[in-house]
Parts: sequence; C-alpha cells; structure tokens
Amino acid sequence: MTNRYAVVLAAGQGTRMKSKLYKVLHPVCGKPMVQHVVDQLNTLDLQELITVVGFGAEKVQEQLGEDSHYVIQEEQLGTGHAVLQADDILADKEGTTVVVCGDTPLLTGETLQKLLDHHDAQGAKATVLTAHAEDPHGYGRVIRGGNGQVERIVEQKDASEEEQAIQEINTGTYCFDNAMLFDALKNVSNDNVQGEYYLPDVVEILKGQGETISAYQTPEFSESLGVNDRVALSKAEKLMKQRINEQHMRNGVTLVDPEQTYIGPDVTIGRDVVIYPGSVLEGKTTIEDDALIGPHSTITNSHVGSETTIKQSVAADSKIGSRVQIGPFAHIRPQSSLGDDVKVGNFVEVKKASFGDGSKASHLSYIGDAEVGSGVNIGCGTITVNYDGENKHLTTIEDDAFIGCNSNLIAPVTVGKGAYVAAGSTINQDVPSEALSIARSRQTNKEGYASKMKSIKKD
Ligand code: UD1
Ligand code: CA
Repeated sequence: MTNRYAVVLAAGQGTRMKSKLYKVLHPVCGKPMVQHVVDQLNTLDLQELITVVGFGAEKVQEQLGEDSHYVIQEEQLGTGHAVLQADDILADKEGTTVVVCGDTPLLTGETLQKLLDHHDAQGAKATVLTAHAEDPHGYGRVIRGGNGQVERIVEQKDASEEEQAIQEINTGTYCFDNAMLFDALKNVSNDNVQGEYYLPDVVEILKGQGETISAYQTPEFSESLGVNDRVALSKAEKLMKQRINEQHMRNGVTLVDPEQTYIGPDVTIGRDVVIYPGSVLEGKTTIEDDALIGPHSTITNSHVGSETTIKQSVAADSKIGSRVQIGPFAHIRPQSSLGDDVKVGNFVEVKKASFGDGSKASHLSYIGDAEVGSGVNIGCGTITVNYDGENKHLTTIEDDAFIGCNSNLIAPVTVGKGAYVAAGSTINQDVPSEALSIARSRQTNKEGYASKMKSIKKD
C-alpha cells in the first residue's frame, strides 16, 4: 500500500471571527474545530499527520497534544505557503498527502476515505474534494474544461462574474502525490488579488505539466462547510448537533426534543436512555442503558450507570453508579464517586467525595472531601466543614452511620460504623462505632415566661 500523510492547515488568525480565541480552537458541539478535523483524519491509516500552526501555535499544540506533529508558519502568506512549511518533513517521501483546512469541522473520515479511494482509482496526481453549493459565495470555484476535466481553482476575490456563477466549490480538502505537491508548491506565485500563495494553484501547475487531475464531488455539501465567521460557526453547530443526535436516536436513545439537546461528539449512550430537553452531555461522558437525564442537566466527563436519573442537575468528572437518583438541583463536582442505589437530592453539593452503595443525602447538604461508606443516611442540612482557610481535610463516615439534620462535621474527623450523630451537632472529635454523639447545648425551658414578659410590657 502507498504511504499516506496528512497536513492540517491551522495557522491563520481567523480575522473574520472577531475573537481573541484563534479560529480553529472555536468549539463545535464542545470540541475545537481542529480537533474534529484531526480526529477524523486519524481514522485513516496515516504514516504522519502534521499540523501547520502559527497564530496561537502554543494553544493549538496544547489542544492536539500527541495527536499530531507540528510545523510553524511564522507569517501567514497563504495556504500554499502553509503546506510548504512541512517541506523538511515530507518533501522526499513517496506516497499520497491529504491536505485539510482546520476550519472544516464537519468533514468525516468516510468522505476522506472515499476521496483517497477515488484518487487511487483514477491514478491522479491531484484530486480535489468538491461540492455543489446553493450559495457558493466565499469559496474557491472549480473551473472545468470542455471535456469536464478540472483545469484550475479560482478564489472568490479573483473570480470573474462568469466564474462566480459556478456552484461547484473547492472544499479546501485535497489528495496529492506527495513529491509532486512539494515540487509544484515552489512554483506557486502570489500574483493575485490577496497577494497570497494559494494552495489551489498547485492544481493548475500540475495540469500544465500534463498530470492527471481529478475531482471527487461529495453529495454532502454540509460536510464541506468552512467556518470563517460566527454565522458559519452557528451553522456548523446546528449541523453537527443534528448528525450526533440522529445517530443516538438510531442507536436506541430517546431524545424528547432533539433541537434542545446538546451532546458532544465523544459521548456514548446506551439503549432506552431518555433525555429531556435542555440537557448538555459533554466530553468523554458515558451513559448506560435505561438512564433518565434531564430536563436541564449538564453532565461533563462522567460515567452514569444504568437506570440512574439525573434531573435539573450538574455533574462533572465523576463516576455515578446504577439506580442512583440525583436532583432536582444537585451539584456533583469533580472527583466524586457514587455507588449504586445512592440518592443525592435537592440542593446537595458533593465535591471530591465517595458514597458507598445505598447511601443518601436527600436534602440541602454540602459533602466535600469525604469518604462516605455504604448504607449511610446524611440528614438535611449536614455540612462537612472541610476547609480551615488554608488546607482541605477529610471527613470519613463509615458504613450504616446516621447523621442527624443540621450537623457540622469539622474535618479531619471520622464517624464510626453504625454510629449516630444527633441533630444540630457540631462534631470535632471522632465518633466511635455504634455510639451516639450529641454535641449541642442542652435545651432549657423557662415555664410561664411568656405571661411574665407580657405583664412587664403592660407596666
Ligand atoms: C480556502 C481556499 C478556498 C476554499 C475554502 C474552503 C485557498 C487560497 N482558498 O479559502 O478555495 O473554497 O478554503 O473552506 O486555499 N491558513 C494557514 N496559513 C495561511 C492561510 C491560511 O494555515 O497562511 C489556514 C487557516 O488557518 C485555515 C485554512 O488554512 O484553517 C484555510 O484558510 P482560510 O483563510 O480560511 O481560506 P478560505 O478563504 O476559506
Ligand atoms: Ca476557510
């Protein structure tokens, strides 16, 4: 098999976004555009993937990490100049190079594979991925000769009126014979309206050398959407959302209102899960069968077990077991772990805490930096006092303990197995197993006090 390489163009600033965030880092369904592109490319069998970075180089590298190699384009002199920055790494290699823009987030690995297959089948030296656009404004247009063969690509700003009427556009995605690409790039000039070195000019140069040039027209225009401004960004978001949501519905997930349901590209969801509107599932979240999510719940990088319900709540970076009930209005903060059959009810905040199976904090509590055993009942208004102003401390509540309402557990502290803490206690010493701890002032009743008060007022 021929060797395959890929170059991702991601050095531009994205002036038209009018943003301090570099264009290719703008998220679509929660994932930066350039990450979408690289993830799709990585479904192909590639020897090398190189991203050309410039504006925001560090941030782009931080995002992609080891998914890519990098070359720097110091000055943004055009897409042709950008590819040329990979010359040192690629120029002497035999094989096929795919070039993709970092601002086409909807492009799929399947379409890239079809493009490569077409390129190979045609024995072409360059193949352009094209699409038919209802409104081609802003894209490069594909100029075909009398015999239907691709001759060249003309940019919007350089196109004559006649050329502007052409609806077949350059998606900015190509396959090239690698050696020929880098030879031809050296002959690209910047003699055009924008004064830039255009990558698409390679097509005309190779054509002039008598090489076979081909085009593969994808039927899915939406895949080729190039995001140059925030209007296009919102279109990309909508299309991506629709693609993701339809796939989940086909796989057996009920989305009560798909228009109002936001699921990231790396989320996995089991069968017969029901998701109510206003829910946002982000990052590497997994939801197991028969769970019920929403309305209005946000779950980020978390695992949710089967038959669990999460209503009007937020959970991040946590592991939640099966048959757990969360909410309404609960907050599960990072590094929490809830066992099976746990209940975290309204206005309960859990942070960096573990709950064993069957434990409950049903109302109005803060449980942070805590290890809670199984079968524990945490009464309404319980607070783990975890912070002394400098350090955080651990509260341990062992199996089957019962914490009465409105208790403060001043950490570090342990409530032993099966122990009781009386309501209203402020606990700052360990409670032994099976003990009852009462830590509040005694009640005194002053008999007849009310009438005494009233008679004083009269005088
Ligand atoms: C480009 C194509 C156009 C095509 C469209 C598809 C050129 C000259 N034009 O136009 O034919 O229809 O994409 O979306 O290629 N970049 C660099 N360095 C540079 C310039 C750009 O890395 O010096 C990167 C940008 O970050 C971006 C990508 O290349 O990710 C495309 O650049 P952009 O300016 O968006 O090109 P378009 O005008 O959209
Ligand atoms: Ca673009």
